[in-house]
Amino acid sequence: MYIGIDLGTSGVKLALVTKSGEVIKTVSKSYDIIIPHPSWSEQDPYQWFDQTFEALKEIVVGFENQIKGIGFSGQMHGLVILDQNDSVLRNAILWNDQRTVKEVEYLNGTIGIQTLVEETGNIALTGLTAPKLLWVKNNEPKIFSQINKIMLPKDYLAYRLSGVFASDVSDLSGTLFFDCKRKCYSAKMLDMLSIKESMLPNVFESYEQIGILKKELADQLNIIQEVPVIIGGGDQAVGAVGMGIVNDGESSISLGTSGVIFVASDSYKVDHISHFQSYAHANGKFHTMAVMLNAAGAIKWWLEQVTESKDYASFYKRVSQCPIADSIFFLPYLMGERAPINDPYAKGVFFGLGAHHGQDEIGRSVVEGVTFALKDSFELIRSLGVDIKKARITGGGAKSQVWLQMISDILNTDIAKVQTDEGPAFGAAILAMVGSGAYQSVQKACEITIKETEVFHPNPQNHSVYQKKYNTFVKLYPNVKPLFQILE
Ligand code: XUL
Repeated sequence: MYIGIDLGTSGVKLALVTKSGEVIKTVSKSYDIIIPHPSWSEQDPYQWFDQTFEALKEIVVGFENQIKGIGFSGQMHGLVILDQNDSVLRNAILWNDQRTVKEVEYLNGTIGIQTLVEETGNIALTGLTAPKLLWVKNNEPKIFSQINKIMLPKDYLAYRLSGVFASDVSDLSGTLFFDCKRKCYSAKMLDMLSIKESMLPNVFESYEQIGILKKELADQLNIIQEVPVIIGGGDQAVGAVGMGIVNDGESSISLGTSGVIFVASDSYKVDHISHFQSYAHANGKFHTMAVMLNAAGAIKWWLEQVTESKDYASFYKRVSQCPIADSIFFLPYLMGERAPINDPYAKGVFFGLGAHHGQDEIGRSVVEGVTFALKDSFELIRSLGVDIKKARITGGGAKSQVWLQMISDILNTDIAKVQTDEGPAFGAAILAMVGSGAYQSVQKACEITIKETEVFHPNPQNHSVYQKKYNTFVKLYPNVKPLFQILE
């Protein structure tokens, strides 16, 4: 049996999985986000470790002598810094922290997008690790001068559990000091950040074993055999592994508050114009992802906040009964938007309202608007030469059959569900299987452990109606874009 550990933002989740992909047990433990200042977001790495070890104690009970490997998935981009005694120098600065606006302007402006793309394949975004290091350098010089080790969140767990200072290509891809295509650190970026390569972890593929569980920790867990520790990767890449998105052109859509379109590819594809993130994948290859900030969150806003209901089943039933051809449009940018428009000033907009429209029609336009925005990124990914025939879908929003059929109709793509919804923790267990030799490759492990349970096929008539509407939808944002600044 294999343990997948997903170090998330609200908590850590462990899954105990058999070689054939059966989830035997899961254990979750939570910890807090520390907000020392509006828009800042931090966590205490010691708490991560303590909660993870508590969860490990619980999950192994009764299975101690059957544990054959441990693998990780982690929230990406977080900055963890240790001094020469391996003490944590300050709280970790997380992926959703927005303090680095100035540093991002400096990186994209003064260093320049062209250099960043040449060196790393990506541009600076506030959440990434390099701008955070610059922030510490500029604002906490005393702490900066004591840095001895720099690592990502899940690497801290791996270090404490195995004693090995390691990271992996998928997670390092989100640092902006890693050359994602060549899978090595960028000397130019390290120089610019005033850090030495000796401060950084050794680089592994996500499915590689880095060491074994420390003897004193194994003793506390009543484990007598040697347990391989596999480094794992960033939560998006490992979540994709957990859904079997590991062959060229395969894609997934995750519908949380935000939405992510993830495409696996055998070759590295750069796209900084559409603000996609082009990273190394956890299967040894590459991936591109479009992260949109307004997905199921916008539907929740409409239903729960505006109509004051939590009855999703009846909402989607009424949505399905409104005519598709109706002409209300909704731009879903309630939280500004990352991909593909990268516009922090963007807002939500309703267009085309008539006196005959009521709550149901407007509700339908909200679901459609989110799906059209998803299509914007989907089509741009297709235009990079990726032929997407099917997308596997996951996340809280993936529960509504009505929405799933609409996504299939609008994207003109098959949409499939798989048997497990354990996400990154399941993917981390798969990587543990591969790293400890149970399977020869991530692809092989996914083939055996992951099965599709339901597929939605596009309805051609619906697709052609939606296509006409989409042609109007795409004209809206460019026309209102200049007006959003007035609202600031
Ligand atoms: C990806 C990203 C998130 C975090 C949070 O770019 O920011 O997926 O990893 O889990």
